[in-house]
Amino acid sequence: MTNDTPSEDTTDGFHLLIDALKLNGIDTIFGLPGIPITDLTRMAQAEGMRMISFRHEQHAGNAAAAAGFLTQKPGICLTVSAPGFLNGLTALTNATTNCFPMILISGSSEREIVDLQQGDYEEMDQLAIAKPLCKAAFRVLHAQDIGIGIARAIRSALSGRPGGVYLDLPAKLFAQTMDAAAGKRSLVKVVDPAPRQIPAPDAVQRALDLLKGAKRPLIVLGKGAAYAQADAEIRALIEKSGIPYLPMSMAKGVLPDTHAQSAAATRSYVLAEADVVMLVGARLNWLLSHGKGKTWGGANADTRQFIQIDISPTEMDSNVPIAAPLVGDIGSCVSALVAGLGANWAKPPTDWTNAITERKDKNLAKMAATLALNPVPMNFHSALNVIRNAVKARPDAIVVNEGANTLDFTRSIVDMYEPRKRLDVGTWGIMGIGMGFAVAAAVTTGKPVIAIEGDSAFGFSGMEVETICRYNLPVCVIVFNNNGVYKGTDVNPRGGDVAPTVFVKNARYEMMMQAFGGVGVLAKTPEDLAKALDEAIASGKPTLINAMIDETAGTESGRITSLNPQTAKKK
Ligand code: COA
Ligand code: ADP
Repeated sequence: MTNDTPSEDTTDGFHLLIDALKLNGIDTIFGLPGIPITDLTRMAQAEGMRMISFRHEQHAGNAAAAAGFLTQKPGICLTVSAPGFLNGLTALTNATTNCFPMILISGSSEREIVDLQQGDYEEMDQLAIAKPLCKAAFRVLHAQDIGIGIARAIRSALSGRPGGVYLDLPAKLFAQTMDAAAGKRSLVKVVDPAPRQIPAPDAVQRALDLLKGAKRPLIVLGKGAAYAQADAEIRALIEKSGIPYLPMSMAKGVLPDTHAQSAAATRSYVLAEADVVMLVGARLNWLLSHGKGKTWGGANADTRQFIQIDISPTEMDSNVPIAAPLVGDIGSCVSALVAGLGANWAKPPTDWTNAITERKDKNLAKMAATLALNPVPMNFHSALNVIRNAVKARPDAIVVNEGANTLDFTRSIVDMYEPRKRLDVGTWGIMGIGMGFAVAAAVTTGKPVIAIEGDSAFGFSGMEVETICRYNLPVCVIVFNNNGVYKGTDVNPRGGDVAPTVFVKNARYEMMMQAFGGVGVLAKTPEDLAKALDEAIASGKPTLINAMIDETAGTESGRITSLNPQTAKKK
């Protein structure tokens, strides 16, 4: 054991790192112990930090990313060198892509040996590899620089557009000692790590003028709007302006999905027909068809104008021209717009809002009819109807969601009522975030977590059910088991091996949770599912519900079939 505290008048790299994090209000580390950071994990725990150990670094990294999104503090992921570092890197890059603040701290081998490529234990030039994959990357070589290293990492993760930061800590650093008083002085409490960015008054006026002239205005809320924690300001803007809004997936719940101005249930119509679109923390990337093409091809296709609120100035004009760029933090920008609406603001023309309501009501009625059906075997709709009711009853529960069909159906069926309660595959459409996000949601909020998982998606992080049990977290995992990727009915035309998309039929996923002392339930009907989910939420016990779904129910790639090269070729 080397986890002794140093003598009273000296400190060391281990303790400087822990003290630097604590000084900045960071109280949790997600990680996986091993050389050279095992003692660091023990010491962090001994010093009162929450140390959540995972079974694979990717999930620890995903947990850090989700914690960053939920708390506006960088989530910390701690890994061993080379392989552990690489395992964490996917999560770091995904966090950066999604604009979530996190810091991946990895131990590394000794510089002298790595740089001469002399074959050290887990040798790898980690800093060079991380650099192009995250927002910023730093290495600390001397104990007296740990305070500055942490400060730079926190500022880089949080300021401007949030993102992932890599911090490289060679093994030798941890045991370096220095005078305790000088060590204390070397630490930095970061002041105002995400400074407000007030928009220029003329930019605010330009946006208001455009909105004022609009006949068919639309507001699109993205996950930046959820991250910004400007919930009251955003609600004021939408309700005072009377403009219909469309929430992107992780912005569901910034206003309740049942809000009268939500146009989510008539998405295609509003995107095609709007004449002025204001993006609030949403990028015009593939999820919004890059702002052009068929999705945006209605009567106003050639004259449509965009207003974009974003903290990153270079986001403007990334896909289509932005007529009114509003650069600043969402809270400040939206407040300025609300102030500028004034007392005489004219709400959008009723022919536009009525047309939306009419289409929306029709789609909602169609959806209600589908949800009322009770087919045997259970399908996505009848299972999700149960979860929809459960979330309605517990709007504070956090929904984690991944898969293809399981993702797409959940997004439109399960209404969200509160901000930052939906965590999903985000900008990349990444699979494997499930258990990491669920752990982070439970650890940072203490609220019930419902992880709605396709059976394929669950496979990427399934071993972390042990982590969920070990920390006794209030997580209920629901595996939508339709025997395969997309569905379970593919056949290998040559016989022999099963088709590439097919899994073991009727797999007993619930036994995985039972193996570690949690509750496992096989649910074949909506009634089974409702009972198990109610019990899980009431008890807070780690639970896995294996929801058996009709294996013919899914479609290839869910709602994004058009991205398959073969389908695209045929079009
Ligand atoms: N009741 C009734 N209908 C509803 C509804 C509700 N509560 N909520 C949404 N709908 C409707 C929408 O209006 C839309 O129908 P429309 O196109 O006829 O208007 C449909 O249901 C689907 O809506 P939604 O899921 O919001 O949009 P979409 O699927 O067309 O959105 C993307 C496109 C790309 C944004 C979306 O598919 C997405 O986020 N995909 C992520 C996919 C992914 O990453 N997959 C992982 C890899 S497989
Ligand atoms: P979605 O996928 O939901 O459309 P995106 O991830 O594409 O959302 O967009 C989020 C946007 O929000 C990014 O462009 C990011 O720069 C921006 N953003 C994040 N935080 C803030 C903030 N506090 N203020 C302004 N913009 C922000």
